[in-house]
Amino acid sequence: MTDTTPDETHRTSYDAALARSAKIEERIAQDPARLRMLTGDRPTGALHIGHYFGTLRNRVRLQDRGVETWVIVADYQVITDRDVVGDIRGSVRELLTDYLAAGLDPERTTIFTHSAVPALNQLMLPFLALVTQPELERNPTVKSELHAAGRSAMGGLMLNYPVHQAADILFCHGDVVPVGKDQLPHVEQTRVIARRFNERFAHGERFFREPAALLSESPTILGLDGDKMSKSRNNTVMLRMTADETSAAIRKAKTDGDRQITFDPEHRPEVSNLLTIAAQASGRAPEAIAEEIGDRGAGTLKVLTAELLNEHLAPLRARRAELEQDPGYLFTVLREGNARANAVADETLDRVREFMGMVY
Ligand code: TRP
Repeated sequence: MTDTTPDETHRTSYDAALARSAKIEERIAQDPARLRMLTGDRPTGALHIGHYFGTLRNRVRLQDRGVETWVIVADYQVITDRDVVGDIRGSVRELLTDYLAAGLDPERTTIFTHSAVPALNQLMLPFLALVTQPELERNPTVKSELHAAGRSAMGGLMLNYPVHQAADILFCHGDVVPVGKDQLPHVEQTRVIARRFNERFAHGERFFREPAALLSESPTILGLDGDKMSKSRNNTVMLRMTADETSAAIRKAKTDGDRQITFDPEHRPEVSNLLTIAAQASGRAPEAIAEEIGDRGAGTLKVLTAELLNEHLAPLRARRAELEQDPGYLFTVLREGNARANAVADETLDRVREFMGMVY
């Protein structure tokens, strides 16, 4: 075709994704009620402030704007990179608690799980017929997850979960998918599947829409040691922590010896990360916060960051404490979400069977 290098291909497709993201953001501003958002998480436990400032808060924003909102608790995806699901019910409960505490409203947002929606899973079969092995093997996110899991052999679900994820998005005709950059290959794969389905099985009818990734503008929050924030590294601030636990964790955060506080992510990642957290929590610019602290050192920065963060999270944590008292309610919300998802998935699968002539 053309003589672009893989790197250039990658960049142009990233630029195209960015352009689509900006365009969908415009549509959200103009006509939110016509859009359907779908995104989700693997249930591996409670969420931390990286999840909250990175994605969760944005979902609540879209919901509040009037976008129809669907959130999948991707339980089958847990076993892509590990052998056992662990305490899956406990993980799902924690996730539901964080979702509702952060402001997802079950009246307006449908929260559901893979395992309870058979028709969604069945969509994977015709979708698998629309992709090729090399296409799946090229997916950079799957490759790096395989590497991170420390495995040599690729599991069948690991290889194919992007197709399953396409079913997550397409069963409900989602058109906005708020995700981080790592999920772009999956959204791209979903677009390809939608297009091929329409061409091959739906005789050119635009039955499945091609969804756009909504790329978050919020900065990445690092762990308190400067590494990637992750529970297993013990460097997080969890949403479920108390204010005192939060202050204690931030007091132990890694910084540097320069008492003059400046926002310089490249040369001072740890100090800048605390400034980013303080900025996200207060809605102020990190540079302005740095200037205010001046030469009063990392101790002052930590106290201020903990204060701003605790203040911002206080209402969320109060709701969280209430929700924790009532796990029955949380699972009722999930069952109602599953019922809604099933109704929509059944309808989509019926249409898919019709397109394929499989009506007996
Ligand atoms: N793969 C996503 C993650 O690990 C979770 C996910 C599952 C998802 N299904 C989805 C995200 C559909 C967006 C749309 O974070």
